[in-house]
Amino acid sequence: MADYQESDVPDQTGKTVFITGANTGIGYDTARVLALRGARVLLGCRDESKASDAIGKIQALKADAEVVWIPLDLASLDSIANAASLVSKESKLDALVNNAGVMTPPKSMTEDGFELQFGVNHLGHYALTGHLLPKLKEQQGARIVNVSSLAHRNGKIDYEDIHAEKRYSRMGRYSMSKFANILFTYELQRRLEAVGSPVISVACHPGGSATELGRHIPPLFALLLAPMSLIMNSSAQGALPTLMATTDADVSGGDYFGPMKMGEMRHSAQKVDTIGPAKDKADAAKLWQVSAELTGFEYSI
Ligand SMILES: NC(=O)c1ccc[n+]([C@@H]2O[C@H](COP(=O)([O-])OP(=O)(O)OC[C@H]3O[C@@H](n4cnc5c(N)ncnc54)[C@H](OP(=O)(O)O)[C@@H]3O)[C@@H](O)[C@H]2O)c1
Repeated sequence: MADYQESDVPDQTGKTVFITGANTGIGYDTARVLALRGARVLLGCRDESKASDAIGKIQALKADAEVVWIPLDLASLDSIANAASLVSKESKLDALVNNAGVMTPPKSMTEDGFELQFGVNHLGHYALTGHLLPKLKEQQGARIVNVSSLAHRNGKIDYEDIHAEKRYSRMGRYSMSKFANILFTYELQRRLEAVGSPVISVACHPGGSATELGRHIPPLFALLLAPMSLIMNSSAQGALPTLMATTDADVSGGDYFGPMKMGEMRHSAQKVDTIGPAKDKADAAKLWQVSAELTGFEYSI
């Protein structure tokens, strides 16, 4: 069988998909392809002008593409609740793609006092998903897709220093947040299964893709890494695992998708596997409880 490509995305007419961080990078390319295939795509973005540029680019490719901006700052629980309330007014929701992410910023905090990477990449998406689950449950076959990273392999939840008050490692906290994405995916799937819900929770990663994710990498280090861009996925290629996870017929709860070549760094998409510790049920249950306490959001599964 030929390697997976954009043209394998089935017709999306009648589907509604909400994608966080959809104004650029993997989120934008996921939105572009889904909109071109006929989906109504809701772009969850924090910056109106960036969102409107992205909408303009997609509508330049397909004038009647249904692409709508939903204001969303994942560093604010209030903004998350407002965005979820807007999305819940849609007539349906087939998929939520938890894509937005921030990598290796200088130490900073969200509006609610969470360390930024753990706060945006995990806690924000935990709360957003919880708000939207009732809407997703209305739709047969609805999916939650969490965009993680190869960096999950180096991750570990630092429960003793959850807000990085004692120590802040830029890459350590990114890996922790991406490890949390996987623990969350599996725990959510277990909880959905336990109540016989048809909604599924899956994960994916884009390998190494040339996007704006490296914007916080110090300039000298970025210069050293520049040759890497020659072998990296483009953003469009990096979106393929997300597209497969979001639209393929052969997807089950708990599946994980990534690129095919160079140790999952690049090329197309296929089912892949996470590291063993990411499947630890006790760790996932603990993270769930901590996430509920920190965000004050309890799921009604
Ligand atoms: N690129 C890679 O090689 C790679 C590898 C592994 C995993 N990933 C994962 O892929 C996902 C997408 O990353 P990318 O590579 O496409 O990076 P990107 O080009 O930097 O895009 C990140 C997106 O997230 C948005 N975002 C950041 N903070 C946000 C917040 N507080 N509220 C709402 N949106 C926010 C950004 O919005 P603004 O433009 O407004 O900042 C942007 O739309 C991330 O989860 C990342 O961890 C990427």
